[in-house]
Amino acid sequence: MTLHPPVRLALIGAGFLAETRARCYAQVHGYDVRIVAVAARTSERANAFAARHGIPRATTDYRELLALPEVDAVDLCVPNHLHRPITEAAAAAGKQVICTKPLTAYVGQDLAADTSDGEISGQDRAHMLAVASEDAAAMVAACERAGVQLMYGENWVYAPSISRAAGLIAHSRGAIVEMRGGECHNGSHSPFSKIWRYTGGGALIRLGAHPIGAMLHLKAQEGIARDGVPIRPVSVSAEVGDLSQIPAVAAAEQSWIVRGWQDVENWAAVILTFSDGSRGVVYASDAVLGGMESKLEIFLDNGQFKCNLSPHDLLQSYSPDPSVLGDAYLMEKVSTSAGWNTPLPNEDWSSGHLAMCQDFVEAVAEKRPARSDGCLGLEVTKVVYAAYLSAQEGRRVEI
Ligand SMILES: NC(=O)c1ccc[n+]([C@@H]2O[C@H](COP(=O)([O-])OP(=O)(O)OC[C@H]3O[C@@H](n4cnc5c(N)ncnc54)[C@H](OP(=O)(O)O)[C@@H]3O)[C@@H](O)[C@H]2O)c1
Repeated sequence: MTLHPPVRLALIGAGFLAETRARCYAQVHGYDVRIVAVAARTSERANAFAARHGIPRATTDYRELLALPEVDAVDLCVPNHLHRPITEAAAAAGKQVICTKPLTAYVGQDLAADTSDGEISGQDRAHMLAVASEDAAAMVAACERAGVQLMYGENWVYAPSISRAAGLIAHSRGAIVEMRGGECHNGSHSPFSKIWRYTGGGALIRLGAHPIGAMLHLKAQEGIARDGVPIRPVSVSAEVGDLSQIPAVAAAEQSWIVRGWQDVENWAAVILTFSDGSRGVVYASDAVLGGMESKLEIFLDNGQFKCNLSPHDLLQSYSPDPSVLGDAYLMEKVSTSAGWNTPLPNEDWSSGHLAMCQDFVEAVAEKRPARSDGCLGLEVTKVVYAAYLSAQEGRRVEI
């Protein structure tokens, strides 16, 4: 029996992420969660999504959802350029806001609509940093003004391996001296991921935003626990590149890593320095074979933790031939089911998406802050674009 009134959500977007969210909200326990409406760009996608998930209302105009009195919170599962305008509109309508990562991005939002792809990606990185930071700050401010929460959808903050490590770190009272973490795979097949104007960058923002978010969260928590104030990032050094342009890769008849990146990097490495002198080493790559690799190592003055979001070996499988398991889903981005594999028993659980949806629903129902909020999203935005500036200018950038 639930003690709380129902939490009524509207999903804006009906694509890849919205599917994950609908699956995870359906598994939230102890609360009566209802997805009461969905919006997409096209009515076919909105209607099909609504039918698949038993959602009573579907539309192509997200403003209709914001006007519904029965909607408590909206979850933004739309491309990055829509995060700010929809957050501002939702906050003004008094809705709690959940926004996926990245909180926002530089996608030429300050330029004319007919600006070419090349002009957008060619903008100075200092300009991108200023515009994206202003966008993110405006989102945080709009929600503060309206008295609603801005929850930031960074699943790494909630990944069971990282949450458990965070709990043990708090218990140990150790100091984190270094973190090494990254997300890598063999490349997104979405044509949009290859063009700056749609994503606001390449591997760094799409993949690197996750370990950066987790590192900022862990150091903030450490500072709050010890001194009552978060330990913050103070500078960034970075390099980015396109490894598919290495001549032997570019010329190969067949490549197992995705090629054809238009104006974004498919590899990045970032060194983060925190105010206490500790470091974070972040890597992100679209040129790594073997399935989704999401890992975070945490080194303390009194111990060490290795967090494996994916792969992990709770289950190992062996098949002598790809025909045995065929196209059965094993884990994200693994290119064959032959040989040894690590099929993930529950990817939504190990990635943190399940626990994140649970926290967001509880935060709305109990009117308490979510663990991952807009301020974290704002800091990640600053770090990401400071890293692009560092890579462009070949120097350390202060945040
Ligand atoms: N781990 C993570 O946290 C994670 C993972 C993946 C993606 N993301 C983030 O999620 C966001 C969406 O990515 P995705 O992979 O889900 O993209 P996607 O599969 O392309 O889905 C985007 C959805 O947005 C809808 N849409 C576009 N414009 C709209 C508008 N004006 N009004 C209402 N709906 C609109 C599209 O409608 P149609 O279907 O009609 O085209 C589509 O359903 C991005 O910000 C991405 O960075 C986060």
